[in-house]
Amino acid sequence: MMRDKNFKKWDLDIFFDNLKPYKKSVILAPLFMIFEVVMDLLQPKLLARVVDEGIVKGNLNLIVHTGLLMLGIAIVGLIGGIGCTIFSSIASQNFGYDLRKTLFKKIQNGRFKDISAFSPSSLITRLTNDVSQAQQLVLFSLRMLVRAPFLCIGGIAMAFFINLKLSSMIFVVIPLLLFIFYFITKKSFSLFSTMQKKIDRINLMVRENLAGIRVIRIFNRSKYEKTRFENANEELVDASLNAINLTVKIGPLVMIVVNLSIITILWFGGKMTVNSEMKVGEIMAFINYLMIILMSLMMISNLAIFISRAGASIERISEVLNIEEMDKKEASYKKPFFIKGKIEFKNVSFSYKNNQDTPFLKDISFSIEAGETAGIIGTTGAGKTTILSLIANLYQPLSGNILIDGCDISEIDPYILRDNIGFVTQETMLFSGTIRDIMKWVDEKVSDTEIEESLRAAEIYEFISKLPDGLETFIGQKGVNLSGGQKQRLTIARAIVKKPKILILDDCTSS
Ligand SMILES: Nc1ncnc2c1ncn2[C@@H]1O[C@H](COP(=O)(O)OP(=O)(O)OP(=O)(O)O)[C@@H](O)[C@H]1O
Ligand SMILES: [Mg+2]
Repeated sequence: MMRDKNFKKWDLDIFFDNLKPYKKSVILAPLFMIFEVVMDLLQPKLLARVVDEGIVKGNLNLIVHTGLLMLGIAIVGLIGGIGCTIFSSIASQNFGYDLRKTLFKKIQNGRFKDISAFSPSSLITRLTNDVSQAQQLVLFSLRMLVRAPFLCIGGIAMAFFINLKLSSMIFVVIPLLLFIFYFITKKSFSLFSTMQKKIDRINLMVRENLAGIRVIRIFNRSKYEKTRFENANEELVDASLNAINLTVKIGPLVMIVVNLSIITILWFGGKMTVNSEMKVGEIMAFINYLMIILMSLMMISNLAIFISRAGASIERISEVLNIEEMDKKEASYKKPFFIKGKIEFKNVSFSYKNNQDTPFLKDISFSIEAGETAGIIGTTGAGKTTILSLIANLYQPLSGNILIDGCDISEIDPYILRDNIGFVTQETMLFSGTIRDIMKWVDEKVSDTEIEESLRAAEIYEFISKLPDGLETFIGQKGVNLSGGQKQRLTIARAIVKKPKILILDDCTSS
């Protein structure tokens, strides 16, 4: 099945937007390529002259002259090729750099609700593999989009120029090859998209397994996971082999067509030579041009396959790029705004699915004065974490108002709001680094005394002061591994180190 969706306008914008700063390279690469193409097209014609005028007629002078000319042309072609490679690499590498940057920025600034709808593993794939595919596409296109059509048309023109009569066979060979390539391309579309899906699945599985290694061991599921992975792995190999098999099967078919056409050229060309309608060198050149045409058709078909493969990546990238940035309408925020900490909910309704009819938080109203401590109790899944996320403006209510110090939350710059909130999330999340790094991550300006105070308040200071490296102790992969509760206490210390006006603790006393 062919991809039913072609590139949308937005997809193409990815290329326009990210290539604009590198206009010079984008124009220079194809220009250099034209040099290479013209030189490639001249060589067979000159070779014919060496054979027909030089060797056959014993004109050594002409052989030397033409030989030198061919050498010069080869050098010019080489320079063209190198120039094209350099400029297309500059354009594509920078394109990838910019695209990764834009994507990363979007993940940081995009609407939290939309971003959190993507799984981390899928975002990782988009930022790495998909960007590489798009980058490769730019590289290939800058080289091939010019090279292939020019070689094809140029090759046909040169063949006609050499011998009009013999060229008529091109009208048989080209449609035949086009048919074969069309067939391969069409088949490959589906084969490669299956392959990509299998790769995605393996990626997902590896990430899940690495994250869940402890659970897998405890539940004795290592064997089960191994089998699951082996199956996925085998499916990938099968899918890849299917794709390769196709090319393997088609290869000989193409060779038959090519060899048959060479025999035809030799047969009719030979006859013409006997009748002095054609020369030996011209037959050689003619075969060369046929090869050039064949090569260019192959390039076009490869490019088509690659475009379809990259198309899926481009689509995934634009899904992320399409996310709205919400923290942007700065002009409409009330500034400056000093938060005291009063929180009010007025008839707030909310649903994760933008579903107006059945919000799972309905008509919530409450008020917490500044300085007051309040608790929210509810069964699991009742919506406690959701209410806390609403206070931090991670999500926006469907209806009703959330007021901070009497000001609607939508009018408060989220940056200022969150600067005044200390949040301990339900799931412990610490970035790796020293304990000091972890605390300073919140605000570079906090002093060691402040760090100490908050560690004391979180009742973890005593433990840390006994560590040989104290605040310099490295937490994470290559350092000390803390217990679940110790980690939780660190996240509490992290939340209070900035002395926030609003402190939110989501179920963080479990350990
Ligand atoms: N990101 C999300 N997308 C869609 N639905 C969600 C999301 N997060 C939570 N929910 C759903 O919203 C409901 C409330 O979830 P919430 O996390 O607020 O519950 P909770 O009261 O904090 O529960 P717990 O005590 O288990 O932490 C649940 O039914 C859950 O399935
Ligand atoms: Mg919760």
